[in-house]
Amino acid sequence: MASPRILVLATGGTIAGMAGSATRHDYRPGQIGIEDYLARASELGLQAELSGRQIANIGSEDIGPPVWSVLHAQIAAALADDECDGIVVTHGTDTAEETAFLLDLTLPTQKPIVLVGAMRPADAVGYDGLRNFANAVRVAGDGRAAGRGVLVVMGDRVFAARDVRKVRTRGSDDAFRGFPRGSVALVTPSALEWFGAPWREQGGARYGYPEQLADVPVVYVHAALDPNLIRRVGTPETRGVVIAGVGEGNMPGPVRDQLADMARQGLIVVRASRVDEGLVDREPDDDAAGFVAARALNPQKARLLLQLLLAEGIADPAAIQAAFDDPYS
Ligand code: SIN
Repeated sequence: MASPRILVLATGGTIAGMAGSATRHDYRPGQIGIEDYLARASELGLQAELSGRQIANIGSEDIGPPVWSVLHAQIAAALADDECDGIVVTHGTDTAEETAFLLDLTLPTQKPIVLVGAMRPADAVGYDGLRNFANAVRVAGDGRAAGRGVLVVMGDRVFAARDVRKVRTRGSDDAFRGFPRGSVALVTPSALEWFGAPWREQGGARYGYPEQLADVPVVYVHAALDPNLIRRVGTPETRGVVIAGVGEGNMPGPVRDQLADMARQGLIVVRASRVDEGLVDREPDDDAAGFVAARALNPQKARLLLQLLLAEGIADPAAIQAAFDDPYS
């Protein structure tokens, strides 16, 4: 059987990072270029034909709309290219979940699209990047990955973009988790085990790629949060706000009153949770306040979904709630 043809789009991150010493704890992400990286990968004996393109070479804390739009365009072109069977994006782990989710909502899923990162730089003891990369190439070359949206490979686990989240700042073991679904596949030395059937059989992009993303800040709630802070967040440009609430998206009473007031004036207020696995259900109070419940999306993903909805001209809280209830319907 012919080897799958995989396009590797490199954006930087620790997977391409260097410390200058095998044990230094600080390092610089985005130091190795794609040509060099593919030369290193060629020694792994991967069953794939790899080609590469450098999109950026930066830490993922600096990734945002300019890189996202280039990535989106390049992947869309690769999806339409008969000479490409799958796409791997190398990416910093800090914001990989955001890039993955945005691409997931705005790209068709007829070919595998896989993000991969590393927790240790390339010259560190125990560099996890090549193992993760080899696993990502396996996933991207597997036709069974199609119809599962954008995937993120970390360690031997494969996560769906909607579920994946970084849960550790350091260490290469279990730095990522999937919530609420856990991992969707496991890479073993001899097999790639998929759990369940593809869930996006329709395959089309759920949302158009936006020309602009609206101003939607995330407010982190803590005990004794001053409602005046909320007032300051609501500038004339602010279209919506995502609340990283305590517990199940809760907030102090004065903050709630302030936000309900702003919601009455047209601001979209989405209640998410600052708790890592924080499912936020809709409550009767949300009807009175005009709020939206983020369900299983964490604040940073809730922000992206809201930005996509606003870009499509969807600004009615009930319609926005329906999209949060099922972002892919
Ligand atoms: C980054 O996100 O670019 C730095 C951290 C990492 O890749 O693990």
